[in-house]
Amino acid sequence: MEPWKPYREFDTVLIVNFGGQYTHLISRRVREVNVYSEIIHYFNFTEDIVSEIKPKAIILSGGPASIYDPQSPKIGDWLLKLDIPILGICYGHQLIASMAGGRVDRGVGEYGKTKIRIVKNDDIFNGWDNEEFVWMSHKDYVAELPNNVEVLAVSLDSRYISAFRLKDKPIYGVQFHPEVIHTPKGRILIRNFILAIAKARSNWSPGNIVDRIIEDIKGAVGDEGKILCAVSGGIDSTTTALLIKKAVGDRLIAVFVNHGLLRENEVEDVLNVLKSLGINPIYIDASKQFLEALKGIKDCEEKRRIIGELFAKIFKDIALTTPNIKWLAQGTTYPDVIESGAIPGADKIKSHHNVAGLPQWLGLNVLEPLRYLYKDEVRAIAIALGIPEEWAYRHPFPGPGLAVRIIGEVTEEKLRIARKASYIIEDELKKSNYYRKIWQAFAVVGDDMWVGVKGDKRSVGYIVTIRIVESEDGMTADWSKIPYELLERISNRITSEISEISMVTLAISSKPPSTIEPC
Ligand code: XMP
Repeated sequence: MEPWKPYREFDTVLIVNFGGQYTHLISRRVREVNVYSEIIHYFNFTEDIVSEIKPKAIILSGGPASIYDPQSPKIGDWLLKLDIPILGICYGHQLIASMAGGRVDRGVGEYGKTKIRIVKNDDIFNGWDNEEFVWMSHKDYVAELPNNVEVLAVSLDSRYISAFRLKDKPIYGVQFHPEVIHTPKGRILIRNFILAIAKARSNWSPGNIVDRIIEDIKGAVGDEGKILCAVSGGIDSTTTALLIKKAVGDRLIAVFVNHGLLRENEVEDVLNVLKSLGINPIYIDASKQFLEALKGIKDCEEKRRIIGELFAKIFKDIALTTPNIKWLAQGTTYPDVIESGAIPGADKIKSHHNVAGLPQWLGLNVLEPLRYLYKDEVRAIAIALGIPEEWAYRHPFPGPGLAVRIIGEVTEEKLRIARKASYIIEDELKKSNYYRKIWQAFAVVGDDMWVGVKGDKRSVGYIVTIRIVESEDGMTADWSKIPYELLERISNRITSEISEISMVTLAISSKPPSTIEPC
């Protein structure tokens, strides 16, 4: 089969990934101005690829390396000869400076909110005042630039060059991060670069590609063979299944496996919603099997491995016993695709074992209709397809379910607590209209105990930790500053409605340095 076609019929911005933690944010900012973007790892970024993709603009991401380190990622001289607007961010900024003949040194650095001063007007700063706050995160800095490069902005004490451009070409470097929300006018700068300077047409929208996706599915699977699709009720797999249903009707074999690690009322809710969309999945209750296999297992990665393997075994059995299954459909989205080809040497934080990780030995062709899309774009497609809005905006839920929200061994008691407490959190967020502003909100329970007093009696109970985070893609996240009154209501309900709890705590670390799920 042909590789799934990207949407390059739309004007495309190519983002070169040097291993920065904000690369997806850059990409999402581009799509927010309705221009299609693709991320390419620096070692795949060649002159040939540029000729093939014909991007309207190129953005070089940040990254952890130092330009003067001989091992650091470099790009050939051809880059600055291109007639395509280029914007380098942080490491990208230093790379362009160095390629243009400048010098990069190690300094004391700038971190966090920093004020810069614009010293030369340029279209890229349209809409900016002379002095603005930006977000910095660097030690290395551009120490010297050749004559053919002009400085556009400096940090307030004039110590560092914050932005420059080549005099004869729209090739720019910015030391700060315009893609993060802490650079208040960052979005404007990215818009200026893409629309005004690179003149990309602003016509990309997920709603515009629904028909193309359905036609692509038909083209990929031809006239024969069934398509197995694991559905979890999550927005990615529901949308995938519905797109396939629209493309090939009853050739879709949807399967919903209950691993016993689902949320409160989830089985009934998922089955009802799928039915209302015309999808009747095969329902497999494997909860006993999963919980048995998880008995005594405390280690996070071990739990993930066991769950992943059991899933794969169940799907293999279905694939072997159902005649004529040729395809396995997965709701893989763009961050998964990029992360799975990640920069070599990058540390693996967690292995995301879920249906998107079904192994090759299933021997089926893989169909991933959402592989170039971000979650919010999948939501837009879901709504265009008639998936109820409330369902489309449900918080993401990890494949291994509550097993990654329970610290230590998964027991029936901890499962019950995690379920009930999470339900209370979600319920209160919905009632107070906070639910949609939040990326994920849930309860975590481990083995630690706290002494309580209930009805004048000593009672020793579990600690429940509330995790409520805001995020755009799950790659970075911040804890949500919801009102104290709301936290108080949640906490009171948890201790009064769940008798095993004697303390509620709140998780207030961002990602990084923490992660979203505890396990
Ligand atoms: P972390 O905890 O790594 O989570 O900050 C980032 C996002 O990924 C989700 N997550 C998973 N999703 N299978 C999944 O499908 C997994 O094994 C898994 N682990 C974490 C998490 O819910 C968050 O949205």
